[in-house]
Amino acid sequence: MSDEKLIFSSNDLIEKKYRIYNGDCIDILKKIPKKSIDLIFADPPYNLQLKNELYRPNQTKVNGVSDEWDKFSSNEEYDKFTIEWLSACHEVMKDDATIWVIGSYHNIFRVGKIMMDLGFWILNDVQWYKTNPMPNFRGVRFTNATETLIWAKKSEKQKRYTFNHNVMKQLNGGKQMTSVWSIPLCTGSERIKDKNGKKAHSTQKPEELLKRVILSSSKEGDLILDPFCGSGTTCAVAKKLNRRAIGIEKEVKYVEISKQRLTKINTEDYKHLQLKEPEKKSLQRVSMGELVKKGYFKVGDRIFTKNKKYSAIILDNGNIKNDVGVGSIHKIGAMIKESESCNGWMFWCYNDGGNVKLIDEKRKKYRIKNTG
Ligand SMILES: C[S@@+](CC[C@H](N)C(=O)[O-])C[C@H]1O[C@@H](n2cnc3c(N)ncnc32)[C@H](O)[C@@H]1O
Repeated sequence: MSDEKLIFSSNDLIEKKYRIYNGDCIDILKKIPKKSIDLIFADPPYNLQLKNELYRPNQTKVNGVSDEWDKFSSNEEYDKFTIEWLSACHEVMKDDATIWVIGSYHNIFRVGKIMMDLGFWILNDVQWYKTNPMPNFRGVRFTNATETLIWAKKSEKQKRYTFNHNVMKQLNGGKQMTSVWSIPLCTGSERIKDKNGKKAHSTQKPEELLKRVILSSSKEGDLILDPFCGSGTTCAVAKKLNRRAIGIEKEVKYVEISKQRLTKINTEDYKHLQLKEPEKKSLQRVSMGELVKKGYFKVGDRIFTKNKKYSAIILDNGNIKNDVGVGSIHKIGAMIKESESCNGWMFWCYNDGGNVKLIDEKRKKYRIKNTG
């Protein structure tokens, strides 16, 4: 692929909704504009390091993952590779983006440690519980029935990221979804076969898994990137869910499979899957000064912390004053908590005829009165 085709401009990313690139993801990621991606899903080589062939009790050979792309000469080499591709991913992520990385017990602990070292901040470790796992044929340990998906933001400080809580609740019959996802392995008609009827890719992931990843942590129109695209599962589901997608894959045969898979999808046929988070009603901003002005608090009223260890007097501009200092309810709260921030509305209380109530109750009353 010529370099020219790999020069992205912001317009370019918007105009062409789906792209699969052939090459090493570390090289290609460096050509993608920094801070341009909304969500990454990565299913990197697992470094399985299978030493011997595996046979079933009836002596038939098990088709495990023995592909060249999964081979590394040592753990150090694998770690170096992991640091490189994860660092390159970090660069292309927008400031409100998140990343998912899937792996098995063979690699996920190494990957998780590297992510933390690079500054990523883990939001969840989702367990994919495979309802139809491959048995442990030799019966020498438990059947391995899980894989882990690490979901992380770019840094601890990152404030904004997408999480479609209500969509996930809807997918889970009205109950909050947990971090254990029971999903079968990809089999049957979903599994792509080659012309000899064999699996076209040894680790094709189930679309249901990607559906949850994409629906939970991206919005319609977002740009999703998969640096290890394989048979194209992420890009296919992204297209079904009306997102844009970039896939990177180093094996030409998988690039072709992914492209064919994408071509067959008509986004319009999947409208029923495209669940949306209800828009949050933006609440009217109310200041403490406003509450004083309108008589909800009087100058000189005393507010206090839940444990009554600290109290403060309300001033005429809505600020408060005590031994700690003078400032907003948030600032003095943060100073007491010795933390960077504090939501003063949920920190300070007042006495309502003998009942202790959060000052937020007065703010709620004000909003109801002023917005109907
Ligand atoms: C675990 S598989 C991904 C399977 C994919 N999630 C699917 O559902 O089909 C990893 C893929 O990454 C590709 N790969 C390995 N190293 C790569 C690299 N450095 N750059 C790009 N692709 C790579 C492999 O060829 C393989 O297809």
